[in-house]
Amino acid sequence: MEMNIALLPGDGIGPEVVDQAVKVVNAVAKKFGHKITFEKALTGAAAIDAVGLPYPDETHEVCLRSDAVLFGAIGDPKYDNDPSAKVRPEQGLLLMRKKLGLFANVRPTFTFPSLIDKSPLKRDRIEGTDLVFLRELTGGIYFGEPRGRSEQGDRAFDTCVYNVFEIERLARMGFEFARKRRKLLTCVDKANVLATSRLWRETVQRLAPEYPDVKVEYEFVDAVAMRLIQWPKSYDVLITENLFGDILTDEASVISGSMGLMPSASLGSDIKLFEPIHGSYPQAAGKDIANPLATVLSASMMFEYAFDLQEEAKLISDVVNRSIEEGIVTEDLAGDGKAYKTSEVGDWLAEQIAK
Ligand code: IPM
Ligand code: MN
Repeated sequence: MEMNIALLPGDGIGPEVVDQAVKVVNAVAKKFGHKITFEKALTGAAAIDAVGLPYPDETHEVCLRSDAVLFGAIGDPKYDNDPSAKVRPEQGLLLMRKKLGLFANVRPTFTFPSLIDKSPLKRDRIEGTDLVFLRELTGGIYFGEPRGRSEQGDRAFDTCVYNVFEIERLARMGFEFARKRRKLLTCVDKANVLATSRLWRETVQRLAPEYPDVKVEYEFVDAVAMRLIQWPKSYDVLITENLFGDILTDEASVISGSMGLMPSASLGSDIKLFEPIHGSYPQAAGKDIANPLATVLSASMMFEYAFDLQEEAKLISDVVNRSIEEGIVTEDLAGDGKAYKTSEVGDWLAEQIAK
């Protein structure tokens, strides 16, 4: 198969972890006889520094002519500490999601048997956790208008808006995911307070009879935040709006033992995007210490979701599992064992694939 992949390394540790995913993808391509071309483009603070915009038109063009996008991370402390900055790296990510029509972000949480004891949660609580969030990605408070500051500057406002069609397409995807899994769908909302949440609940209730094989439960977001660490095993597929999804998926990611482990796929149009759920971890940038596994697993999701190549996807997740079992891991997972460099982990994975 021929595949054209846009590479958007972004900021911080983004470039280093994407480099490892490229090694792995190349090894897979060689093994299975695929022809892969990569085209690199700028996003985030790196793009602001170079051309003044976090998601330049040239980058969008590169994405449009690709079959899939592999993304690293975005964000830079120089903007985090300057709330008055007019142009912000994060705007690039939001614009990209919007312009590419990526309305659904698939964020799985699962545990690795050999890492269970690295989790901040007790073994019996988390063993066997296998859940997936479908986070709405192009609506809600992230995009609603009006937003801004009053003239005097003493008042600020954001608006949370949802249209039925935005909820419906995400919810349908949730039902379909549940169908292929354990057939349990949780609609996460705050319907006791928010009008948008009541529209979510109403919409999901209307659709539910079309999926009689799927059990639907409705749960308030605050309760989900709690049950997620008390009893994560009790979830299968969770659907939720943009901001709730942002928060809960960070919470869920640490169940696995390290935030550097969880991948994601952004779906909704022909061009799909794959990225680790962690951020740009600026303190580690350039040090060759960041965990590349979330990005490598995102490449696995790319084979699965963008190219429907299940064997390739599985091979990648198998070698990632093996690297963890054999302790070929970066410092966040090494414990008392040897801490490998980011690049060493990438090399090891690529070698294993080549075998
Ligand atoms: C994420 C990130 C982004 C988000 C930021 C960087 C804009 O936290 O992908 O979860 O909030 O969506
Ligand atoms: Mn986030």
